[in-house]
Amino acid sequence: MTRWLVTGAGGMLGTDLVAALTSRGEPVTGMDRASLDVTDAAAVTDAIAGRRPDVVVNCAAWTAVDDAEASEEQALAVNAGGAANLAAGCAALGCRLVQLSTDYVFAGDAGRPYAEDDVPAPRTAYGRTKLAGERAALDRLPGSAYVVRTAWLYGAHGPSFVRTMIKLADERPTVDVVDDQHGQPTWTADVAAQIIALVHSAAVPGIYHATSSGQTTWFGLAREIFGLLGADPARVRPIPSSALPRPAPRPAYSVLGHRAWAATREPGVPPIGEWRTALHRAFPELVAAQRAAAAAG
Ligand SMILES: NC(=O)c1ccc[n+]([C@@H]2O[C@H](COP(=O)([O-])OP(=O)(O)OC[C@H]3O[C@@H](n4cnc5c(N)ncnc54)[C@H](OP(=O)(O)O)[C@@H]3O)[C@@H](O)[C@H]2O)c1
Repeated sequence: MTRWLVTGAGGMLGTDLVAALTSRGEPVTGMDRASLDVTDAAAVTDAIAGRRPDVVVNCAAWTAVDDAEASEEQALAVNAGGAANLAAGCAALGCRLVQLSTDYVFAGDAGRPYAEDDVPAPRTAYGRTKLAGERAALDRLPGSAYVVRTAWLYGAHGPSFVRTMIKLADERPTVDVVDDQHGQPTWTADVAAQIIALVHSAAVPGIYHATSSGQTTWFGLAREIFGLLGADPARVRPIPSSALPRPAPRPAYSVLGHRAWAATREPGVPPIGEWRTALHRAFPELVAAQRAAAAAG
């Protein structure tokens, strides 16, 4: 039986991963920020030595993309320093590491899905710090680290574009949404399942892309959400990104390719399915979570 240690277990993905492992009856220790600060090298060593996991999944991250522009050093401490501490702990105790990463490692200007081995060229502080985290994991654990890149995440246990749209559909007559950024809306529960399958498949170490298949824009996603709510999708209006300047530029094209999954050993791990199907499956849980949060004030 594989023993798991999940860091950042209080976050959106970490919560769903711990829940998925628990429901499968797999032994898992979830450590949130209060119980393990990944920037504390000694605490990381103690946590791994004390629990002796077979695999560590690092869901801890500085995820405030805009704030990272003015605080790159602090973001780097978490996103790269944390990964390096965990990789060192895993190297010392012989366990595998799954390091979560992001589409922001790429420039976001491609005309076809990014392959796992395309050359990264981050354009934001967040992207640079996450790329440094990937390298910390892969360099220290060349034979036993997985980098799992994901993007456009939504889930029941954290803020996301999907939950924001559910809220705005209740509050506003119309919503303006950017129509010139392309990506793959991805459910945290699907990423959790993908991580579990990857580890159990004994796949070759390296980089994997855990995003939904297909692609849309934020505008396309918002219209789908309004449709699912029974609201008029025409209440969502398209705007260009230039109408919504932000400290960190958003990638115009974040679509990730899924070729590496084909190389996983028999019986193989298929990539996550189409984004619209996943959204439909997740939707009741997302609406319930958003309405509960609104009721709690
Ligand atoms: N959300 C997305 O759309 C998205 C897209 C691409 C990639 N990713 C990647 O996916 C992974 C999971 O993201 P998520 O959406 O679940 O993020 P999240 O909800 O922000 O969770 C990250 C967790 O890390 C914790 N954390 C921050 N600093 C820490 C530290 N020094 N030590 C330990 N824990 C710390 C946070 O705690 P506090 O809340 O207390 O700070 C939070 O609970 C991350 O690697 C992220 O970069 C996310």
